[in-house]
Amino acid sequence: MYEWAKALHVIAVIAWMAGMLYLPRLFVYHCAAEPGSKQSETFKVMERRLLRAIINPAMIATWLLGLGLAFWGGWFAFHWLQAKVLLVLVLSGIHGLLARWVRDFAADRNRNSQRFYRIINEIPAVLMVAIVILAVVKPF
Ligand code: HEM
Repeated sequence: MYEWAKALHVIAVIAWMAGMLYLPRLFVYHCAAEPGSKQSETFKVMERRLLRAIINPAMIATWLLGLGLAFWGGWFAFHWLQAKVLLVLVLSGIHGLLARWVRDFAADRNRNSQRFYRIINEIPAVLMVAIVILAVVKPF
């Protein structure tokens, strides 16, 4: 059972991260589209579907399976897991910000530049590298 839960956890993580890396990239292109244009409306649909159909359910599955693994494996007392949960909380906070920006774009009220979203794009990637090292290497 544990190994199956771990496999499902990694699958959920891949889906979550794929969306977390792709959504800010869509924002970069959306910034260049004139509000009200056909292109801008297409980006709105893509962003909404990506958030609702992939990123949100994948985050919930990652959390539930991760917490289940920590419980069944007795990992809660280990420092690598505590550090990992902290970084996943930061990642979840960025998820919340991305959801807010999807709503802003949907209402043609985006306030951020292309450069801003390019920088934001890097943060989930850096967090993901640290989280995977903590989960696999368990350095402390
Ligand atoms: C707070 C949410 C999370 C919790 C509580 C959690 C907890 C865990 C636990 C307890 C394991 C099993 C470790 C083992 O059996 O060796 C695990 C495996 C793993 N987790 Fe998470 N996790 C969470 C989120 C994430 C995220 C966001 C990522 C990646 C970005 C991630 C990547 C992995 C990977 C790659 C493994 C497989 C490690 C291995 O088999 O060596 N986890 N997680």
